[in-house]
Amino acid sequence: MLAHALLAPNPHNRQPWIADLREAGRIHLICDGERLLPETDPFGRQILIGCGAFLELAVIAAAQRRVSVRVDLFPGGAPADQDLPKGSRVATLLLGEPGSAAADPLFAQIVRRHTRKTAYAGGRALPGTLLGSWNDTASHFGLRGGTVATEAAMGTIRRITREAYEIEATTARTWLESARLMRIGPGAIAANPDGISLNSPTVRAFHAVGLFDPMVVPTKGSSSLQRVMERWAPFETASGFFWLASADNTRPAQVASGRAYVRAHLLATAADADMHPLSQALQEFPEMRGPREALRNALGLGAEGATLQMLSRVGFATEPRGPSPRRSLESVLRT
Ligand SMILES: Cc1cc2nc3c(=O)[nH]c(=O)nc-3n(C[C@H](O)[C@H](O)[C@H](O)COP(=O)(O)O)c2cc1C
Repeated sequence: MLAHALLAPNPHNRQPWIADLREAGRIHLICDGERLLPETDPFGRQILIGCGAFLELAVIAAAQRRVSVRVDLFPGGAPADQDLPKGSRVATLLLGEPGSAAADPLFAQIVRRHTRKTAYAGGRALPGTLLGSWNDTASHFGLRGGTVATEAAMGTIRRITREAYEIEATTARTWLESARLMRIGPGAIAANPDGISLNSPTVRAFHAVGLFDPMVVPTKGSSSLQRVMERWAPFETASGFFWLASADNTRPAQVASGRAYVRAHLLATAADADMHPLSQALQEFPEMRGPREALRNALGLGAEGATLQMLSRVGFATEPRGPSPRRSLESVLRT
C-alpha cells in the first residue's frame, strides 16, 4: 500500500512524507520537516498537496486488496495558516476489515502515471469525457476544477506562467532553493533519488564544461537567463490547461487538492494523456504577487476570493519519459 503511495506526484520530488507504523492498526502520515520548500512554498501549501496525493494513492492501493481506509485529517490539529507544516501529523489512516472496500479502477494507472515534462503535441484536442471526469473529481473533493483550451485564453496563461518562471529564476533565494535540489546526470540522481532530475544531454554538457553552474543566479539580460528561459519553451506546448481551486485555503482543502489532483492525473494517464503542473505563478512569496493575481483573474477566481491550488498544462507528450526517482520504502517508514 505504501509502496504505491510513495509514487505520488509532489513538489520538486521532495517526497515529504513519513509513514509512522509504531501504533498497531494505524498508519500516521507525518509531513517530513526536513523536506520542505520554505522559499517557494513558504506556508507548505504545495507540500501538503503532495501529502494529499500520497494519501489518495494509499487509499486506492488498499482498496485493491479490498481494504477500506478511514482517513482522520490532522488528528493533532492543523498547522496555522502561515506556519510551515514541519513534522505535522497530516492524517491517521485506520484500515478496515478485508472485504470492506471495492477495487478502484484507477489502481492500474498508479505505476503508469509520470509527470512528462517534454514538449506536448500541437493541435490535438483532449477527449471531452476526460474534461467531464476531471470536473466530477474536483466536485467530489469539494473543489472547483476547470479546463482552458481556447487559443486566446491559453496565450494569456502562457504569458503569465513564463513571467512567473522568470521571477522565480531571477530571485536569488528562490532560484538557489531549486538549484540546491538539482541532480545533474545519472550519478547525482542515483546518489540522491529526489529533487529536480536534470538528465538531458544539453544540460549535462553545459554543466560538464562549466557553462551551467546551478549556484549562479541568472540575472536579467544575462546569457545564463536566456539559456534557462530556453528550457521553458516546451512548457508552452499543450492542448490546454487544467486547474483546481478551493473556496478557502484551509489545510484540509490543500490535502483535498492533492487527492483530487492525483486522481485527475490518473484519469489522464488512463486516457494516454499527460499532465504537468506549472506552479510558479501560484506561489506565495512576495515577488510573485503580480503573476499570482493575474492568473487568478484570468481564470475568473479573483472576484470570489478562491484559492488556485493547482495549474497544469495538459496534452500528449511527444517523447516517452520513464519514472522519476524515488527514495526507498524503508527510508519512508518509522517502525
Ligand atoms: C503541488 C505540486 C506542484 C508541482 N509543481 C511543479 C512545477 O511547478 N513544475 C514541474 O515541472 N513539476 C511540478 N510538479 C510535478 C513534480 O515535479 C513531480 O510530481 C515529481 O517530480 C515526481 O515525479 P512524477 O510525478 O513523475 O512521479 C508538481 C507536483 C505537485 C504535486
